[in-house]
Amino acid sequence: MEAVRGKQRYDLDRDELDRLAAGRPVWLDIGSGDGRFVVEVAGANPGVLSMGVDAARENVRPASRRAPANAIFLIANVDKLDADLMGIADRVTVNYPWGSLLEGLLDGRSSAWDALTTVMKPSVELELTLNAETLDRAGSGVDAGLQMLCDALGARGFTVQTVQRLDREDMRRMASTWSRRLAFGRRPHAIRIQAARG
Ligand SMILES: C[S@@+](CC[C@H](N)C(=O)[O-])C[C@H]1O[C@@H](n2cnc3c(N)ncnc32)[C@H](O)[C@@H]1O
Repeated sequence: MEAVRGKQRYDLDRDELDRLAAGRPVWLDIGSGDGRFVVEVAGANPGVLSMGVDAARENVRPASRRAPANAIFLIANVDKLDADLMGIADRVTVNYPWGSLLEGLLDGRSSAWDALTTVMKPSVELELTLNAETLDRAGSGVDAGLQMLCDALGARGFTVQTVQRLDREDMRRMASTWSRRLAFGRRPHAIRIQAARG
């Protein structure tokens, strides 16, 4: 699979990934954008291998250049995650998805969910943070959009554990470039969902 660190592009296979993980839990951030979240997670949790996946190579380059050794950036579309990632993730986060990533998450039958569930360990923890506006647009109302997401999670065998509303201050504090950008809006709010299998 294709990995990047700054301008350098390299191939990574499962043997190399297992060597880098060295038995540590693997946390996967999908649609990682500029990678701020992945870098912060890696810095705050040296006992974890923090991996970001994004379809857009140019988004990832700057953060990956200054990333700690336990942060890795992969270039991939969510519905074409490499077979070498099978069963690797102890924790999966998706922060402020848009486009085909958002569409995939809202549809329990999507190829995005096929790929996501393949890379997860059975005991995976899942955390999704969405801009309320995108849920509003998707469902013609935030509650209806949220219901679509909860239905997709249910269809994939997840139980929603918590649904939390993030206000402007919460969004500003989050280690996500997109969250901080949205926090400047007129009435920003986001929804965070934590889910587990079973
Ligand atoms: C709004 S940005 C959020 C970036 C980052 N998570 C953050 O919080 O700053 C959405 C990201 O999702 C990525 N994305 C959209 N569709 C995708 C797909 N099908 N597969 C992988 N990444 C995707 C985009 O390239 C973009 O970087």
